[in-house]
Amino acid sequence: MTSEHISVNRDEAVMRIAFNRPEKKNAITAVMYAALADALEEAERDDAVRAVLFEAAGDMFTAGNDIGDFMSGGASPADPHQTPPVMRFLFALAKAEKPLIAAVQGGAVGVGVTMLFHCDLVYASKNATFHTPFVDLALVPEAASSLLLPQIAGHQRAAEMLLAGKKIDAARARELGFVNEVVAHEATGDAGLTAAREIAAKAPAAVRLTKNLMRGDRDLIVARMKEEGAHFAAQLSSAEFREAGAAFMQKRKPDFSKRS
Ligand code: COA
Repeated sequence: MTSEHISVNRDEAVMRIAFNRPEKKNAITAVMYAALADALEEAERDDAVRAVLFEAAGDMFTAGNDIGDFMSGGASPADPHQTPPVMRFLFALAKAEKPLIAAVQGGAVGVGVTMLFHCDLVYASKNATFHTPFVDLALVPEAASSLLLPQIAGHQRAAEMLLAGKKIDAARARELGFVNEVVAHEATGDAGLTAAREIAAKAPAAVRLTKNLMRGDRDLIVARMKEEGAHFAAQLSSAEFREAGAAFMQKRKPDFSKRS
């Protein structure tokens, strides 16, 4: 599936996948997830692709899931037996054998952050921020972030983001361990592309084997995604999520005082 809001281009052996919906802060709709999943699946199939670079147009990396899509049920397929596009994208991330590199300029929210835990190299601009406000939206972490972030950062530091919902800056993200290098805003795209080109020029089988050894058991990651997904779906139908979603749309703070 193609989407005008996801651009996919080749730079020789690098597949460049860019969020391209800057007027909505690159918030990701179901159609965009499908395009992202298609691109990642194609990258895995095509021997000519040796690395994938995620990047974005505009002043933000991505504001995460499109909240309107959530509220209208647009994120779920009509056929309940069909894998939702968001899950196709997440499974493709979890199973990716090609190196994934991200160039994060500006803010990243929700899945815009959790997808980074599946990337092998992450470059962030000095003004980048990272925010996973799942609990504040009455939701739970996704993309196996409840497994991967504690592994990367340790439980308490992961709780700073996942439980407390604290927005952190690029320097703190580097301290937590999921950003390799903080660069000037205008140098972010180049830093990502240079790293992607360098890794794409290396021996492909050795790169694939090394990534597989480092990533370990992908089935465990996929299982956690499914477990999180079940809670996430249940929360989407909850009264507390209705309150959080309405508050976002009405640009006010949610009131959870009456929820048990
Ligand atoms: N879903 C749908 N629309 C979104 C969105 C999202 N996740 N994030 C931003 N947008 C839209 C806004 O509604 C606004 O649309 P409008 O111009 O039609 O009113 C537009 O993008 C610009 O956003 P705005 O909020 O005006 O920009 P900002 O710079 O003041 O704030 C954010 C940017 C990212 C801090 C803020 O938009 C935000 O908090 N978004 C929600 C992030 C979120 O909770 N994501 C889900 C995580 S699970």
